[in-house]
Amino acid sequence: MENTAKKRILSGIKPTGELTLGSYIGAIKNWVSLQDEYDCLYMLADMHSITVRHDPAVLRRRTLEQLAQYIACGLDPEKNILFIQSHIPAHAELAWVLNCYTMVGELNRMTQFKEKSAKHTENINAGLYDYPVLMASDILLYNADLVPVGEDQKQHVELCRDIAARFNGIYGDVFKIPEPFIPKLGARIMSLDDPASKMSKSEESNGSVLLMDEPNIIKAKFRRAVTDSETCVRYDPENKKGVSNLMTIYSVCTGYTYEQIENDFSGKGYGEFKTAVGDAVVETLRPIREEAKRLLADKAYLNSVITKGAENAGRIAYRMLSKVYKKVGFYRP
Ligand code: TYM
Repeated sequence: MENTAKKRILSGIKPTGELTLGSYIGAIKNWVSLQDEYDCLYMLADMHSITVRHDPAVLRRRTLEQLAQYIACGLDPEKNILFIQSHIPAHAELAWVLNCYTMVGELNRMTQFKEKSAKHTENINAGLYDYPVLMASDILLYNADLVPVGEDQKQHVELCRDIAARFNGIYGDVFKIPEPFIPKLGARIMSLDDPASKMSKSEESNGSVLLMDEPNIIKAKFRRAVTDSETCVRYDPENKKGVSNLMTIYSVCTGYTYEQIENDFSGKGYGEFKTAVGDAVVETLRPIREEAKRLLADKAYLNSVITKGAENAGRIAYRMLSKVYKKVGFYRP
């Protein structure tokens, strides 16, 4: 599986909350399209999930569910290394080293930290603050060339580049400097009931469509989606955030361009458009939901994928960690 001729990709999703249409469109769908051309590692970022208070039993359950959903979305465990972050202690070990090459001022600038600490004022822990360094370690351990993520993670990938460049500046070419890889379409899917904010996993409302939602739930969420006071289906993300978001979702699910969508729905009301979007999402997610359910019933298979993933990822990660330990001068007999 390790093929040095191909460029390497690493990405991951936290098993916090259920996977949403946002994580599918912004991340997983692109991962699937990259799996033949690149040497890919896709991670379940469970260590990132504990920076906010969580239920351990739920985290365990969601980790397995998320793996089933990765595979159901089309990520082939024979082509990609699918692994659980906490199975590779090298992530935490490299993060410690990288902490010593990351400036507090850089972490202070992280938008996500500012947002999350404003939201969880009772639990602004050091892990939440240090999270981007762990993410840098996730990426640098594997010499990733590209990191496919949605728009909200771009700042973290840029910090990772800065940390890597600083380290390389001192010790020579140790790390590859990774590039963020942001999809042209759907890099930021917005909440259906608040089109000014991102569709998020933590949101337990009408605004987030979950990968595992049943068709009637999905359709109802789209029927209630917030639009505007006009009646015209037109792509204008500045002034028509709700409608434009629905158009992006529809475009991703059907392959139609914005222009085609505008033409098809010209003179028709929002009701008809929202129904069409809901139906398209139902048909996109139906095979994923069914396959994920089937896979979840086969725990032995999922566990075999996890074991193989840990072996393959661990081999790459420890090679890099020992290189780093040597560079910084940790003594080995
Ligand atoms: P996370 O778990 O919040 O999100 C996972 C991926 O989904 C994308 N995404 C979206 N894209 C478009 N619209 C949305 N509404 C939307 N919501 C989520 C995110 O941009 C992301 O790509 N720190 C990361 C996980 C991580 C990681 C890594 C990623 C840990 N280590 C190393 C890449 C490389 C995170 O919290 O993503």
